[in-house]
Amino acid sequence: MCGIIGYTGTDNAVPKMIKGLTVLEYRGYDSVGIAAQVGKKTELVKCKGRIGSLEEKLLVNPIENCSCAIGHTRWATHGGPSDANAHPHRAGNVVLVHNGIIENYKELKEELSAKGAKFLSETDTEVAAALINDCYQSCKDPIAAIRQATARMKGAFAFGILFDGYEGEVFVIRRGSPLILARGKDGYYLASDMTALLPFTKEYCAMREDQIAHLTRQGVTCYHNDKVFEPEWKVTNMTPESAQKGGYSHFMLKEIHEQPEAVLKSISPRINKAGLPDFSCDNITPDFWKQVKNIQIVACGSAMHAGMVGIRVLEDIAKIPTTVHIASEYRYHPPLMPDGTLVVVISQSGETADTLAALRYAKSLGVPTLGIVNAVETTIAREADRRIYTYAGPEIAVATTKGYCTQASVLWMIAAAIAHARGLISDASAKEIVNSLAKEVPAAMEKMLEQKDLFHKIAKSLVGHEHVFYIGRGMDYALSMEASLKLKEISYIHCEAYAAGELKHGTISLIEPGTPVLAISTEADLFDKTESNIREVRSRGAQVTLICREDIPVRKESADEVVSLPVSSPAATVFSALIAIQYIAFETASMLGCDIDRPRNLAKSVTVE
Ligand code: AGP
Ligand code: GLU
Repeated sequence: MCGIIGYTGTDNAVPKMIKGLTVLEYRGYDSVGIAAQVGKKTELVKCKGRIGSLEEKLLVNPIENCSCAIGHTRWATHGGPSDANAHPHRAGNVVLVHNGIIENYKELKEELSAKGAKFLSETDTEVAAALINDCYQSCKDPIAAIRQATARMKGAFAFGILFDGYEGEVFVIRRGSPLILARGKDGYYLASDMTALLPFTKEYCAMREDQIAHLTRQGVTCYHNDKVFEPEWKVTNMTPESAQKGGYSHFMLKEIHEQPEAVLKSISPRINKAGLPDFSCDNITPDFWKQVKNIQIVACGSAMHAGMVGIRVLEDIAKIPTTVHIASEYRYHPPLMPDGTLVVVISQSGETADTLAALRYAKSLGVPTLGIVNAVETTIAREADRRIYTYAGPEIAVATTKGYCTQASVLWMIAAAIAHARGLISDASAKEIVNSLAKEVPAAMEKMLEQKDLFHKIAKSLVGHEHVFYIGRGMDYALSMEASLKLKEISYIHCEAYAAGELKHGTISLIEPGTPVLAISTEADLFDKTESNIREVRSRGAQVTLICREDIPVRKESADEVVSLPVSSPAATVFSALIAIQYIAFETASMLGCDIDRPRNLAKSVTVE
């Protein structure tokens, strides 16, 4: 949450701030602001609302001759969205933008107030600014002041800081929250993630924990512990287009359509010449897989739901006992970790604080960890003992689609790799799974993408209802959980996922004439059971949509609407159902006029616990 950006160089800084913040808006969009150095002065322009509101302010009072600035787009944690709480915050000679939470801000605020500091906002950020300023007043050295102040802060932060008297200089530090530096032709940048800087440059360097960077027009110097060094620049292969809508009305729609290719990108590096699953590109050998006796998957939201798909395939194909844990619960109620446990953390952003904390907890116990991550060089990717990148490309819409889909496909591939390494499946069966993921899944997904009109029709039947249910058994219960989250997240319609057979144990009392129930059936042998549950809700008047294998003859009376799923392989059926549930959520939210890419109260990457 919160996007931060900064620039110093020879070019005009303000348009760069606006462009970068527009890309970063997915990280938070409660308020927005910039601090721009104009000569010896630093001007703050900030307001509640989105980039457009800031641009209006800048039209009235344009900032000219500014080549050094910092900017922020906020997802409020301390103090509601308001002009006063918007970043940047000033305290004495210090102006800063912040991503994260200062957990001990109350104690620090009391201490600084006792010394006479005055606060204009309710944020923890302003306290951080005041503390850095307090330290600066005694040492008069920005780097020392940042060091002293951050040594006293608990929590997570990435700061972009300007000091009065340091024209053309930006100071940066991170702990817990993400931050990257970048080098362009005309100057140097900082940002919460690289997508914000793609319009300007491709050369970047990810900052390490507790590293301080000092950006001037001439270069960047980094400080870590007692070491002083120059950043090691790398070149990203992302393109500016990858962070744009490319002709689609929404990022979510674009990302839904990118899924066939994304699955291929995540699977193909893990296929060897013989067509077998092979994770040597991730430095994972068959021997490593053989040692795994059980798996604990830890993640949040949709990534956790991808883990639910993981349970099915890891247990069914690889015969590995697998459990899934909500990351925010994991540390506080940790499961037993017998020898041979592998902790798998899944995160699209690689920065989710709850997942990171769970990863650090597992590491502190000496348990081997594996990260399945999309965003490269992120904290979770770096800190996990081993990492598998999903290569889905930048995901901008807050509601994940291709992120989830590639996580699930990689888990499926891991199941095949473990089963093969353990001699549970033959070469031929392993190849069949690989082929299904690399070929049949993308083809089946493409086919489903053509059914837009049907999804639109189904969405129409959901509009106007307060409650919706998704039901399914086994794998379909896992899919229902994701389907329900997707619908709630972007359309604001309350939706519950239920194990189809569990509904009759209480929740069926909520079914009234007309209540929409969407049933998923990708597993042929469970269809009869699910159909019985459909009959139960139907006889109470539910309006039923059945998302079902195309080879199952569906009785007319079973459903009002049927979505037929290709059956070229088990994976192809599952991933096709995914397209249906995502598209139905998208169409529903679109009909309701919701802000699909930026749903209320949310942020793409949740970097606070
Ligand atoms: C899903 O659409 C969400 N926006 C959310 O549940 C997300 O999957 C979760 O916050 C985990 O994010 P991560 O994969 O970046 O760790
Ligand atoms: N804690 C700060 C605030 O509330 C920053 C929030 C964030 O990083 O999302 O403004």
